[in-house]
Amino acid sequence: MKPIQVGLLGMGVVGSGTFNVLRRNQQEIKRRAGRGIEITMVADLDLARAQAQAGEGVKVVNDARAVIANPDIDIVIELIGGCDIAKTLVLEAIAAGKHVVTANKALLAVHGTEIFAAASAKGVMVAFEAAVAGGIPIIKALREGLTANSIQWIAGIINGTTNFILSEMRDKGLDFGVALKQAQALGYAEADPTFDIEGVDAAHKITIMSAIAFGIPVQFDKAYVEGISRLASQDIKYAEQLGYRIKLLGMTKRREADASKRTAAGIELRVHPSLVPAKRLIANVEGAMNAVMVQGDAVGTTLYYGKGAGSEPTASAVIADLVDITRLHTADPLNRVPHLAFQPNAMSDLHVLPMSEVVTSYYLRLRVADETGVLAKVTGILAEADISIDAVLQREADEVSGAGNLPAGTQSVPQTDLIILTHDCVEARMNAALAQMQALPTVLEPITRIRKEELA
Ligand code: HSE
Repeated sequence: MKPIQVGLLGMGVVGSGTFNVLRRNQQEIKRRAGRGIEITMVADLDLARAQAQAGEGVKVVNDARAVIANPDIDIVIELIGGCDIAKTLVLEAIAAGKHVVTANKALLAVHGTEIFAAASAKGVMVAFEAAVAGGIPIIKALREGLTANSIQWIAGIINGTTNFILSEMRDKGLDFGVALKQAQALGYAEADPTFDIEGVDAAHKITIMSAIAFGIPVQFDKAYVEGISRLASQDIKYAEQLGYRIKLLGMTKRREADASKRTAAGIELRVHPSLVPAKRLIANVEGAMNAVMVQGDAVGTTLYYGKGAGSEPTASAVIADLVDITRLHTADPLNRVPHLAFQPNAMSDLHVLPMSEVVTSYYLRLRVADETGVLAKVTGILAEADISIDAVLQREADEVSGAGNLPAGTQSVPQTDLIILTHDCVEARMNAALAQMQALPTVLEPITRIRKEELA
């Protein structure tokens, strides 16, 4: 059978990795796919560089639409990124009857519903293994390997840049800014690093996984997103003293209604720094590596670990999609794996819960005046709000590295840091308790609140 023909839009790091891996492993890939897979056409604005990377025999153009219009092309790989031109081109490729492979998590998290609907109507596949956790085959695992399960939750370290920064801050005591520059120099960060450090990239990925896990539409606009840029190194140290590591986790969880806890049914969808017990495997995922934990009712806890970015790890996922499409190219569209794992007419209408209705536990740090009765007042507010305390730690201010930087006028007040771990409660109740604690005259600085996940 003649090789399947592929057109590539955007010859960057992942594009050149895709060429390299396809060439190096072409015999094995052909034996698996049942026919050869060849990238025959590339669109990139830098013609000379793209031609050099693609090699002789590949037609390189600077107009992506020429690739889409080529009747010989069966599959279009979109590696442009972003939501503007990439969205237009993906929809045009679908309209032209091409299957699409994309690594574009932002595009699918924001416009996935429209794109999948267009693909289903046209009977083509949109494959996106490379969009989530790079080389880790987590889409395949969720959509196929775990298909027997009712998924209960997913927790992922799905942004390598922030995991690298947090690892460097903990290991080497580096400041956030220095660690960020190192991450950028190593090529981990997105073109706009705010997407990494403010949690947006991770939120795109957990939004996609949440949709597949629970059969809900992709709803990036409903995700709660908080990054690591305001994380203080002293909280990383205190967390460690309490047996925890701080990770930027993408979390999504199915929640049943619970009258006793006054909580509603729905889906939690959130990204924020989280304390994770140091003894969990996922807490020991260091540097730019990614890991995803999935809890299914039948299988229990599973963990997937690997490189979440980079040329050949991401190419590994792109090519896996090319092989899948090649195998299913001639199958009846209704017999293919649905884009979001569930049949389009069997999606759930479970709603994404607002953050105030999320249930989790907390780490609180309060810089307080070291006076009689302060602890009693703070714990009294928590008790009044029906929030159960798990552990309390007190550290004198002079043991704290930031003690020399206290605001002017507060130097003479004896101060101490109170660190409190709580059991689970609804976020709205914690918000109310935090407001009351913050109003105490003996609480001297804004209270630090970091959520905590036991992942048991
Ligand atoms: N900037 C991303 C990361 C790359 O740091 O994980 C892959 O999405």
